[in-house]
Amino acid sequence: MAGSAGADAITPLYSAETIARRVEELARDIAAAKLSDLIIVAVLKGSFIFAADLIRALNRQGLHPEIDFIFLASYGDSITSSGEVKVLRDVESALQGRDVVIVDDILDSGRTLAFAKGLLAARGARLVKTCVLLDKQVPRAAEIAPDFTGFRCPPCFVVGYGTDLANRYRELPFIGVLEG
Ligand code: IMP
Ligand code: MG
Repeated sequence: MAGSAGADAITPLYSAETIARRVEELARDIAAAKLSDLIIVAVLKGSFIFAADLIRALNRQGLHPEIDFIFLASYGDSITSSGEVKVLRDVESALQGRDVVIVDDILDSGRTLAFAKGLLAARGARLVKTCVLLDKQVPRAAEIAPDFTGFRCPPCFVVGYGTDLANRYRELPFIGVLEG
């Protein structure tokens, strides 16, 4: 993998093939949940590649969800979060009575997903489910258990497949651990 990832040392954790297989399984699980009037809300920016693959896998399962985005940021530097979540761009769709699946890249402290779930539930959604690609095995600051999980991931800083360090490495087709 040397040379493909830029200046930092990145050790592959989940290959593109492993991720693709898991995304298909997640789509099957979401389809099996028999959600109605489904809207997928992808949390920007980190989930954009995962969400793009997941919604096409959902299509292969015969689902035709509406798609919207919410842009959330938790402030701090690029590696540690301050705990404050801000809405930089809200969803456009009305959620009243709808089934919502929030899609995010990484569950870490839990603050982002707990915030998103509370916000969208308060809009009158019938059901708010959560789907994360990576569930980092760390103690949570906010109590939340995802309904759909790609991988339980070690407590390391990871990049790739949409996840970043200061907006770099999102383009990597795999997920790797940033060393150092
Ligand atoms: P939480 O609010 O602490 O759960 O943080 C979740 C957000 O922090 C995720 O949506 C990611 O965007 C970001 N994040 C957490 N851990 C990592 C990581 O290891 N690499 C890149 N981004 C991360
Ligand atoms: Mg994020």
